[in-house]
Amino acid sequence: MTAKPAGMWFGGDYNPEQWDEKVWAADDALMREARVNTATVGVFSWSILEPEEGRYDFGWLDATLDRLWHNGIRVVLATPTASPPPWFTLAHPDAMPVTREGTRLWHGSRDTYCAAAPAYRAAAARIAGALAERYAGHPALAMWHVHNEYGTVCWCDHAAAAFRGWLQRRYGKEHDGEGGDGLAALNEAWGTAFWSQRYSSWEQVLPPRATQWRANPSHSLDYSRFWSDEMLASFCEQRDAIRRHTPEVPVTTNFMMPHYQLLDLWAWSREVDVVAVDHYFGSAGRDGHPDLAFSADRARSFNSGRPWILMEQSTSLIYGRDRILIKEPGRMLRDSIAYLARGSDSVMFFQWRASQAGAEMFHPAMVPHAGPDTRIFREVCELGQAVSRLAEVVGSTVPAEVAMLWDADSWWALENRGIPLAEVRYLDLVRADHAALWRAGVVCDFVHPLGDLARYRLVFATAAYLISDEGAQALRNYVEGGGHVVMSFGGGMVDARHHARLDGYPGPLRDVFGIRVEEFRPLAPGETVPLTGDGVPGDGLADGGHGTIWSELLRSEGAEVLASYGDGPLAGHPAMTRNSFGAGTAWYVSTQLDAGARDRLVAAVAAEAGAAPVVVGAPPGVEIVRRHGDAGRSWLFVLNHTGAAAVVEASGVDLLSGRSADGQLEVAPGGVAVLREHDA
Ligand code: GAL
Repeated sequence: MTAKPAGMWFGGDYNPEQWDEKVWAADDALMREARVNTATVGVFSWSILEPEEGRYDFGWLDATLDRLWHNGIRVVLATPTASPPPWFTLAHPDAMPVTREGTRLWHGSRDTYCAAAPAYRAAAARIAGALAERYAGHPALAMWHVHNEYGTVCWCDHAAAAFRGWLQRRYGKEHDGEGGDGLAALNEAWGTAFWSQRYSSWEQVLPPRATQWRANPSHSLDYSRFWSDEMLASFCEQRDAIRRHTPEVPVTTNFMMPHYQLLDLWAWSREVDVVAVDHYFGSAGRDGHPDLAFSADRARSFNSGRPWILMEQSTSLIYGRDRILIKEPGRMLRDSIAYLARGSDSVMFFQWRASQAGAEMFHPAMVPHAGPDTRIFREVCELGQAVSRLAEVVGSTVPAEVAMLWDADSWWALENRGIPLAEVRYLDLVRADHAALWRAGVVCDFVHPLGDLARYRLVFATAAYLISDEGAQALRNYVEGGGHVVMSFGGGMVDARHHARLDGYPGPLRDVFGIRVEEFRPLAPGETVPLTGDGVPGDGLADGGHGTIWSELLRSEGAEVLASYGDGPLAGHPAMTRNSFGAGTAWYVSTQLDAGARDRLVAAVAAEAGAAPVVVGAPPGVEIVRRHGDAGRSWLFVLNHTGAAAVVEASGVDLLSGRSADGQLEVAPGGVAVLREHDA
């Protein structure tokens, strides 16, 4: 091959070090058959590449890269630093991670390192540099994949020292004034007057290790911030070691969707050349589709709206609570096209060939244990063909008129159990509102609280429990300038230090929403509270609906009351409000709405804000997203997640089947179409 393959990237993690030459030859033929054009190599190969400290053995990797290139396959080359070899443990026992409880972990799995340990950082940067030096100029090298899913935490003494350094930079001079060392500012920010936690020297400051009773939430929040920054520094060291040898090759790392909470992905996205994500389903059935969209919409947003990379998904696996579930036939293709619909320019898997041994030996792959004469491999080939037909879509983007705030601070603050209520989970709340937008057919971006809100007609401030002073100002400016915002319960309860807002929530935004939240009243497990529009000038939005999890005693200070609590201690008090502020509108929802009421709310606010679904009147369960290209070109992705044929209003040529649609498009049960729409 002389030039890298064109079109969407298709392939996955390839681990030939687990196999012999006979299997490699079979892989070459099967990859051609499946139209694989991309392989991620070396993700966990450290012990083979550096069998003893400082001695490298690249022979196997040389052969792999050459072989792949001759087979028409580009390489995403990984640094193997997510799994240090056993020799590393013995040489650097202090670099092994320590749990919150003080237990030191051992090798025998993967991810056994402390990202703050100097020996680990040096070894990781060294092997990254050695790989880059070795493969600089190799024609197959298309991208660097640093590490794998940064996501470990450590509470050891190295972590403690690095944490103190981070805190000194955060609370240093600037806060304590001339001659100060930042400790006074730290004591103030962490509210250490409570429970006798005042620090009188920096040595006393430790990571939030296991404690007898509830931990200090401001301390925990800062540790989350610090740890994200510490791992990012570790990534940047490897990236910079690589760039010295291959400045022209993009560098990324794979973010884990949808669950990991350890990284501030806005900050990380600024440091990678392109955003790459892994996505695995956490539940079977209908919930999976909005969840895929939730991950894909974030990936696109973290990459500033540009096409992103789906680095890993599974051909078949769904992580059930206590078991592995399997995707039904046809689902892999539809899922894969759904990622492309939302802006991915790749379809990649973990992994090419199912391992015969090891902790993930029963994890599905593109080539299963049973070999190529299998349903899964046939579906892989079918998918490879479908993906190859979508080459013209590469580089196009997905416009959105609605956004949701995404804020790691608020997530961390909630998860650190600032609010001691198990059901108030950041991810669940954001996901629920995003799913309502998904059901409404409205495409949604995610935006940082200090990002460009003005680009959007409508912004959801869901689970925005922590709002910094700057964040509050940004939201105020947005509404004042004509924006529409929907804030859900618990919004703005704390500031950036995790201190409660005084004089009523949502603190500095009370006048924007025209309300004052005086008291919160979590509901008992399973308890619901009816909502009513009776006697209020609402439009029946909440009638027949109910709230769950949470309720609030809320006073209107100018806001129009759209729904009230229909029963219980808050009977007759406002539950949902709308306020005009400047040129915009601010809605407030003081409880967790049931899905029906949430759908009615989303429809009402989207209509008021002028945010339309991609195609009006699409049947429920049919997902439709448009990608826009240059010169007015566009592609309409239609995914029928239902068991019945669906008809939607659309015109163009289906790139997958070659059929034309003129005004109406019929999509088979479980089927997919990608229409090249008529030029605008
Ligand atoms: C990913 C990881 C892969 C593999 C996969 C299994 O999170 O990056 O290495 O472990 O999960 O689902």
